[in-house]
Amino acid sequence: MSIDYQQKIPNNVDLAGDRKLQRALEHWQPRYLDWWNALGPEGFQANDVYLRTAINVGAEGWAHFDHVKMPDYRWGIFLAERDPDRVIGFGDDMGKPAWQDVPGEHRAALRRLIVTQGDTEPASVEQQRLLGLSCPSLYDLRNLFQVNVEEGRHLWAMVYLLHAHFGRAGREEAEELLERHSGDPDNPRILGTFNEPIEDWLSFFMFTYFTDRDGKYQLKCLAESAFDPLARTCQFMLTEEAYNMFVG
Ligand SMILES: [Fe+2]
Repeated sequence: MSIDYQQKIPNNVDLAGDRKLQRALEHWQPRYLDWWNALGPEGFQANDVYLRTAINVGAEGWAHFDHVKMPDYRWGIFLAERDPDRVIGFGDDMGKPAWQDVPGEHRAALRRLIVTQGDTEPASVEQQRLLGLSCPSLYDLRNLFQVNVEEGRHLWAMVYLLHAHFGRAGREEAEELLERHSGDPDNPRILGTFNEPIEDWLSFFMFTYFTDRDGKYQLKCLAESAFDPLARTCQFMLTEEAYNMFVG
């Protein structure tokens, strides 16, 4: 399915076909934008930035480049195409069809995995929010903002899964993803690395070289998940994630 850009939330998951889910995500959207405006890149929210936006999930021509103000970036929900024949590749259920919904017995574990992955995405934006003020060059500045908006989109990817498959608990988790903050002594991000400040560009380059590399392997694992929507989400996230390592 191609990506529907007429919607408030661009998507290739037929959001318009599920009004309840669409409403829930449209309710979360302004809260996300509040978070982006408060804790996203400091000092450049009103500037036009040359950015790549995902417009398709196909191997060729998935990105569109244009000038956009970051708060107007079209954050959307994009899953890789579904393979109707996909089977589970490991474990007790190896060889059975991949799950299209979360099996009850794995609900808690999958929710934890998705929340932990989702928590890292806005956390890195928070960590890097002051770097634009000391950028070594315009080139580096653009790279930083490209990484930041795509991490924001990865948060959308995880929030979609929580809303679509985890009911009320998932919606509450989605709220909490905007309430925890990097380095907050009372309500920190889940993983320690994401609570360390990134105050200089060497730290940023090391982060994109090492931490994002670790993140890539994490995503590659999740892209094999028996829970097919998680696998398809992460397959597409890997396409964007390559840019982080390029920066590193
Ligand atoms: Fe990410």
